[in-house]
Amino acid sequence: MAYTYISWLLLGQFLTLVTTSASKIPAIIVFGDSSVDAGNNNQISTILKSNFQPYGRDFLGGRPTGRFSNGRIPPDFISEAFGLKPAVPAYLDPAYGIADFAVGVSFASAGTGYDNATSNVLSVIPLWKEVEYYKDYQNKLRAYLGYQNANRIIREALYLISIGTNDFLENYYTLPNRRSQYNVDQYQQFLVGIAENFIKELYSLGARKISLGGLIPMGCLPLERTSNFFTGNGGGCKESYNMVAMNFNGKLSGLVKKLNYELRGVKVVFSNPYPIVKQIIRRPSLYGFEEVAVACCSSGLFEFGYTCNQYNPLTCADANKYVFWDSFHPTEKTSQIVTDHLLKRALHVFF
Ligand SMILES: *[C@@H]1O[C@H](CO)[C@@H](O)[C@H](O)[C@H]1NC(C)=O
Repeated sequence: MAYTYISWLLLGQFLTLVTTSASKIPAIIVFGDSSVDAGNNNQISTILKSNFQPYGRDFLGGRPTGRFSNGRIPPDFISEAFGLKPAVPAYLDPAYGIADFAVGVSFASAGTGYDNATSNVLSVIPLWKEVEYYKDYQNKLRAYLGYQNANRIIREALYLISIGTNDFLENYYTLPNRRSQYNVDQYQQFLVGIAENFIKELYSLGARKISLGGLIPMGCLPLERTSNFFTGNGGGCKESYNMVAMNFNGKLSGLVKKLNYELRGVKVVFSNPYPIVKQIIRRPSLYGFEEVAVACCSSGLFEFGYTCNQYNPLTCADANKYVFWDSFHPTEKTSQIVTDHLLKRALHVFF
């Protein structure tokens, strides 16, 4: 009895600690690809968009914002967990302004990669240009809040980086150029070098709290299973791609250690979604999923972007039963489970 009472007391204190210290993070600032794009691609000339139904049908207000999901994506859940807004808007979305971006902003662009050649494939925003938008944001933030307050936000904000899948799937394994220059290990080194320069640039611009995201088992995306089926491999995961994702994650994790050692006053964490996503794929029923190999949208075999649209009668009724929403992206429910895991395993150091 007394013991239980004390546990509850401690739990209460712990929760108070979590909620009061949540204000330690004044803003969430996001860089990356479709895993974290909240709608920047709506505003640029690319065919890679998702600002139409059925995308967003489970989002706040059922709106298709340009997120590649039926609902929210990881930065939204992370923002909420830190006591900020339930959704992080896209920097190019004209419905939002600097007052909104002061607590959360996404510069991400679906289809982009570390490699400039990747963003060229579908004419999306290259990573270096996401940084240019971020500099523009800093100027607006200083004009809006004054130099000191803006600098405090820049220094104390949590920076989320999630990018890299497209460098392999859209570029390296699809187009001949990089494959003629590098073997896959050398290409990974090349990408990690870009990641290092990118994070060092963010640091020089004032960032101190950074989460570098790893890759999911990309060989298990429904699109890759479908192509595996048509090459006579029975529609299972493309294990060679999963190996590449694991190797690349190992290199990113090494980079994180190096940066923490080299950059004074920085805290970089490696947010690795691979093990939890692999676990969900192995044992979907443990998490309440009924389908893992095929996506919810349309036939679930290959559609994403414009081929996943409201005129397709095959789209599933309940996305919560599916691990993947379209052939390339997880459902909101998967994103929530993965984000909860990352909050406990990596991002907790920022609470
Ligand atoms: C990517 O392009 C930008 C702009 O042209 C350039 O500054 C940068 O060096 C390029 N990055 C790499 C790794 O080639």
